[in-house]
Amino acid sequence: MNTLHDELIAAIRNIPDYPKPGIVFRDITTLLGNPRAFRRAVDELVHPYAGMGVGRVAGVEARGFILGGAMAHQLSCGFVPIRKKGKLPRETVRIAYSLEYGVDEMEVHKDALEPGDKVILVDDLIATGGTAVAAVNLLRQLGADIVAACFVIDLPDLGGRVKLEELGVEVRTLVAYE
Ligand code: PRP
Ligand code: ADE
Repeated sequence: MNTLHDELIAAIRNIPDYPKPGIVFRDITTLLGNPRAFRRAVDELVHPYAGMGVGRVAGVEARGFILGGAMAHQLSCGFVPIRKKGKLPRETVRIAYSLEYGVDEMEVHKDALEPGDKVILVDDLIATGGTAVAAVNLLRQLGADIVAACFVIDLPDLGGRVKLEELGVEVRTLVAYE
């Protein structure tokens, strides 16, 4: 039987020169379409946190919504969407963050959490960490107790994991591409 690592590596599609020359895009749509790989990835992400009183899984738009919904279901807890600006209808807290070119903003509903709620943050991939660091800061503004940040894919050369760990966040990733 395949190890989980080998199964995930086989299920993730690599697209050279997308979205621009020199980038290898790690495409999880093939993993999501593979029932066994999808289930094993979600099971592996959540298993340390079962029974720990996690109140919410917070997922980053867009791919973090897919993984986060499945994780919240598995943990029998709620899901909190962290959205790109302008999509949430009620009062929000908002934060700017850096992308490879320029900046964007993300936000979360102010009433999405109670101070002290145990939260797991999830996204498909961590690269520079700009997105995840902003999400951690946003959740902490609402008083979240961040139990861990989970990603299927780590790109360690881009340093995001270390930035999160420097903020005191436990980081859990399933595969890495050097
Ligand atoms: C991708 C990925 C992460 C982010 C990681 O999202 O899903 O959210 O990049 O990069 P970073 O660690 O350098 O911040 P993207 O910004 O492409 O948005 P999308 O999910 O809406 O396509
Ligand atoms: N986000 C940032 N870098 C990425 C990559 N190489 N593949 C997929 N999503 C990404």
